Amino acid sequence: MKRIAVLTSGGDAPGMNAAIRAVVRTGLAKGWEVYGVEAGYSGLMNGNMRSLGARDVSGIIQQGGTMLGSARAPEFKTEEGRLRALRELNRRGIEGLVVIGGNGSQTGANALSQMGFPVVGVASTIDNDLYGSEITIGVDTALNIALEAIDRLKTTASSHQRAFMIEVMGRDCGYLALMAGIAGGAEAIVIPEREFPPEQIASELREAYERGKAHAIVVVAEGAQHNAEELEQYFKQHEERLGFDLRVTKLGHVQRGGEPGAFDRLLATRLGAGATRCLEQGQHGVLVGWNRSEVTTTPLTEVVAHKKQIDLSLLDLAVELSQ
Ligand code: F6P
Repeated sequence: MKRIAVLTSGGDAPGMNAAIRAVVRTGLAKGWEVYGVEAGYSGLMNGNMRSLGARDVSGIIQQGGTMLGSARAPEFKTEEGRLRALRELNRRGIEGLVVIGGNGSQTGANALSQMGFPVVGVASTIDNDLYGSEITIGVDTALNIALEAIDRLKTTASSHQRAFMIEVMGRDCGYLALMAGIAGGAEAIVIPEREFPPEQIASELREAYERGKAHAIVVVAEGAQHNAEELEQYFKQHEERLGFDLRVTKLGHVQRGGEPGAFDRLLATRLGAGATRCLEQGQHGVLVGWNRSEVTTTPLTEVVAHKKQIDLSLLDLAVELSQ
């Protein structure tokens, strides 16, 4: 009889629950016992885990967040922390671990795998900045939440001939801002991957008004070189000269808390099932991701050694589209 464990780590993402459900139910279908670890690597180090049955994951596929809880666990970055986790896993006779999460989580998964424990990662982060998966769990839902906000802000912006700046998540990566900006018809998109000085943003907004637009929308990634707070201050200082009013909306964690849409439920289900299939076949030390419409595996060593790039030609396209 095989016994495995599953945990969710780092920032939660809509669809994590669907992935847990898939790991638990496909694991049970193979005749295994499946443990759920509470609060990510913290729970793993403290041995905070319990056996999950099919009914324990009932009614969660449509829920955002994660039923297991998540955490950022700096102690797991130390060898001592990881040894504690290994002791807990061995003490319970657990033979495989599924880690659902993004970059930080998969770095932890790789470290554990390097210590000889069978680990399989599942690609999940709303940032879509994880190498080894074209799209990750939670991105589609987060994007739709951002879009809904942009659409609403556009309505009120038009009524008042205002400019609106919307900050979306993405600490190191502009994917969400870029895609939300294109799909939301933004006049300017500010992302960490390309410098966009405040003066240039201001002149693009001014030109948008001069072309007869009733509003101007700027989508800013939280990790951009000039973040929303800095840009807001700049616009306030130069308001008279610029000749327009700017309002700022920071979407923050609203983007992470939604119910997963169909895409994320299906993606999470396929990736979760892919993870138990890997463990069954003795394949570990890999990330289960989604590439070219298929479930794929990429060695965790490769995942942590690369930074995923976004397609910057889309930023040039966005400029053409905002005419
Ligand atoms: O990594 C996902 C993410 O939502 C980032 O976009 C954001 O910068 C970060 O997590 C926020 O982290 P926390 O929830 O710990 O504040």
